[in-house]
Amino acid sequence: MKKFLALGLTLIMLLAVVGCQKKEADVNEPATDAAVDTPADQAAGWRAGVCIYKFDDTFMTSVRDAMKARADELGAELEIVDSQNKQSEQSNQVDTFLTQDVQALCLNPVDRVAAQPLMEKAKENNLPVVFINRQPEDPVMAAYDKIWYVGAKAEQSGTLSGEIIVDYFKANPEADKNGDGKIQFVMLQGEPGHQDATLRTEYSQQALVDGGFEYEALAMDTAMWDTAKATDLMNTWITSIGLDKIEAVLANNDDMALGAIAALQSQGYNKGDPDKFIPVVGVDATTKALSAMEDGSLLGTVLNDGVNQGKAAVNIMNAAVAGQEITEDSIGYPITDGKWIWIEYVKVTKDNYQDFQK
Ligand code: GAL
Ligand code: CA
Repeated sequence: MKKFLALGLTLIMLLAVVGCQKKEADVNEPATDAAVDTPADQAAGWRAGVCIYKFDDTFMTSVRDAMKARADELGAELEIVDSQNKQSEQSNQVDTFLTQDVQALCLNPVDRVAAQPLMEKAKENNLPVVFINRQPEDPVMAAYDKIWYVGAKAEQSGTLSGEIIVDYFKANPEADKNGDGKIQFVMLQGEPGHQDATLRTEYSQQALVDGGFEYEALAMDTAMWDTAKATDLMNTWITSIGLDKIEAVLANNDDMALGAIAALQSQGYNKGDPDKFIPVVGVDATTKALSAMEDGSLLGTVLNDGVNQGKAAVNIMNAAVAGQEITEDSIGYPITDGKWIWIEYVKVTKDNYQDFQK
């Protein structure tokens, strides 16, 4: 009997110890989670309205997915709407958000020069607003203390994509098909007025010059970031200029680079025959572009880091809603002049593309 009693007591004590340990572990859990990321992590439970210029855009879809993932981690709720490429629609969507008592706004304007009235709506309601991907002009950024911009330096992507072409021409002198020492290219441009279209066009050409090449632009036009439009345009150029004269294709984004490749492939080019290859470069490093690098049809691209752009935008809202000052410490990303968050572009070539494949 005594023995049983002793055993029973030991059991009870054992259970008590286990119980205590379990309790301690529970108490530690939230603290461990919070330690993983930025100090603003505790500000869960907020709601923000997000406008994307249009859902049917490959790169912006990667940003949108990254935003959702980060909001889920933080326990925040994002109301994300498709502005369907219409500025008036977006303006109405912002008005609707204001009636739904959101605590922050994140806007990807349809027309970046139309950012002013959007900023004013945020300001009148004293709401933090984060613009993404389409950069408002400086006076708009200066007119409100709760406005931030998350994006990437378009100049850098232009330079990196031009350098990929330079390296190719240095390694393959026969790429200068007419042997005149100049690079004859065609350029597929993004949407007119978009800083990424203007600056990628300018800086990719500058990179050719800096790399020691003269160039001749055989044709340059917008295909509005779009694959099908780029295929049409490239087909037109193939007919009017001739494939034997085109020495390179520069595209302001991957969707258009892939559109050009479709046109080239329909003529038997960029399908593996080394005598029928025209170097094509894009920007974004989309999943499809990385596959095209794997099969050899796309020479190179530049990572436009949508994952970090999306995460940074959500971190800013999170900190702003919590009333914190927006600093590198509170958002986890370096910040320029208190308002601009620049996410680095990365050159993607055959040597490193596998690092970016998911
Ligand atoms: C650019 C991107 C394009 C397109 C555009 C939309 O940064 O490279 O593919 O998504 O943004 O504004
Ligand atoms: Ca040439």
